[in-house]
Amino acid sequence: MQWGMKNRLSKIIKPKTGRTVMLAVDHGYFLGPTTGLENFREAVKPLMPYIDTLFLTRGMLRTCVEPQIGVPIMLRASGGTSILSKELLHEGITLAMEDAIRMNAVGIGYSIMVGADFERDTILDLSKLVDDAERFGLIVMAVTAVGKDMAKDARYLSLACRMAAEHGAHMVKTYYCENFEKVVDTCPVPIVMAGGKKIPELDSLTMAYNAIQAGAVGVDMGRNIFQSENPVAMIQAVRAVVHENRTPKEALDLFNELKKKGASESKKKDEKPVDDSAKV
Ligand code: R5P
Repeated sequence: MQWGMKNRLSKIIKPKTGRTVMLAVDHGYFLGPTTGLENFREAVKPLMPYIDTLFLTRGMLRTCVEPQIGVPIMLRASGGTSILSKELLHEGITLAMEDAIRMNAVGIGYSIMVGADFERDTILDLSKLVDDAERFGLIVMAVTAVGKDMAKDARYLSLACRMAAEHGAHMVKTYYCENFEKVVDTCPVPIVMAGGKKIPELDSLTMAYNAIQAGAVGVDMGRNIFQSENPVAMIQAVRAVVHENRTPKEALDLFNELKKKGASESKKKDEKPVDDSAKV
């Protein structure tokens, strides 16, 4: 791997722990204003101090994120279909390398649809993107998308992750499953775990913990953070699991503690100042 790539990868995966907490907020590219991200700016800003990389589309980066942001950016480079489409899994390339470089991204993310009708198109696009990204020293993260009828088990996910690596992806994002060790052990590039649908906080922290213990280098979570009843507390709890090896129970305790603290602070803010104008 060339120097620029190694440098970019070290911005995503923190050398101190060898791990990463990525925040995935790219969902609008096929879901529109999804729950929790309706007001993108407001939702994402308070999470910034707690993340290692932000994964989003170029449109939201340009319009809703300050350029002074001190967080590495990874841009989604696939899309073209919506949740309403009969061909949801028929995505293509939606981003030029030059634009990614202009926006100072460290890398790009691309969904591959292994086992779906459009498998071939997406795998060939991934290879093309890897060629282009290598020219500029950008990191390519393959996302192993899973259609409604496709199994999210170790057999399928290890096939998809290994194929992504074989076609040149520098890292892979995939879902958690039983026997996740098999997925990690058969994939030669770093794996980050996607969070999936919103589930209770303890379950989500347990899933992240299990993925990390199985060898994932981190997470690229979205809904279980921004749809949490307290996203700022949840991202810190996830961070504790990823970077400090805290157990799910310890992380949940931290979540509850931060939630309580946040609630009492906002209560203080809401208390009206005493009107002492009569004294003057
Ligand atoms: C995947 O295709 C989406 O674009 C998200 O980036 C991904 O699913 C991660 O988000 P979540 O944790 O909500 O699954």
